[in-house]
Amino acid sequence: MHALNVENAVKTYRNTKRVVTAVDGASFFVNDGEIFGLLGMNGAGKSTLIKMCTGLIPPDGGRISVFRHDAVTEREIAKSLVNISPQETAVAPSLTVRENLQFIARIYGADKLAAGRAADEMLDGLKLAERANDRAGKLSGGLMRRLSIGMALITKPRLAFLDEPTLGLDVVARHELHRLIRARKADCSIVLTTHYLEEAKALCDRIAVMAHGKITAVGTVDELESLSGESDFERVFLKLAGERLEP
Ligand SMILES: Nc1ncnc2c1ncn2[C@@H]1O[C@H](COP(=O)(O)OP(=O)(O)OP(=O)(O)O)[C@@H](O)[C@H]1O
Ligand SMILES: [Mg+2]
Repeated sequence: MHALNVENAVKTYRNTKRVVTAVDGASFFVNDGEIFGLLGMNGAGKSTLIKMCTGLIPPDGGRISVFRHDAVTEREIAKSLVNISPQETAVAPSLTVRENLQFIARIYGADKLAAGRAADEMLDGLKLAERANDRAGKLSGGLMRRLSIGMALITKPRLAFLDEPTLGLDVVARHELHRLIRARKADCSIVLTTHYLEEAKALCDRIAVMAHGKITAVGTVDELESLSGESDFERVFLKLAGERLEP
């Protein structure tokens, strides 16, 4: 079964100065249990697409479904199956690290005891136990991101969206996160965005390239290589994204 189905999704932002079609007819699917990478240049539309998939913003067109539940007409069911670690981390700065985790677990229906247990498990998994009682607002950027990822995974979603999860993480934290993501794979599908191409290559079962609001290619690393006729993955990506480096 597909964890996610996106058909012709469209999102246009309108403000007084300009109109931007951030997502312009994007289509792809994610298999259950898959780690799926969404790659694209800055402004390609990745975060907008993810926000639509998680019900944070409504699509202007097309159809998005999560485990066959429509993201608009069955929004509550679809939302209950997903969670997101947004690009702009959304932690409550005045709560402690542990309280942030507990708070999210409680919102998703865990009782106090279960929420505490889940928080402690997540603190260990993310190597944040030492900072459990510090105010989240006092964390460094990388630690804050780790907490945000914990908040996305603590609800045990069937499908988690991690928007640039490893941005600003040190090399150990990055490894730990990769381990955590792989360990979750059995019961959680993951969609992640990253600008680190080697990371996408190492971690993702399949990768989609997005450019100007559209998905331009989807496949395994091998498939993308043969599709683009390139072997160096940076070149593969640039070609599929329709970009080139100035000499
Ligand atoms: N709230 C908004 N209002 C108006 N325009 C927006 C808004 N959010 C995003 N955009 C515009 O939509 C386009 C796509 O943005 P988006 O954040 O989805 O890209 P992205 O692929 O996630 O980029 P990055 O790699 O930099 O995170 C950009 O042109 C951006 O400026
Ligand atoms: Mg983004």
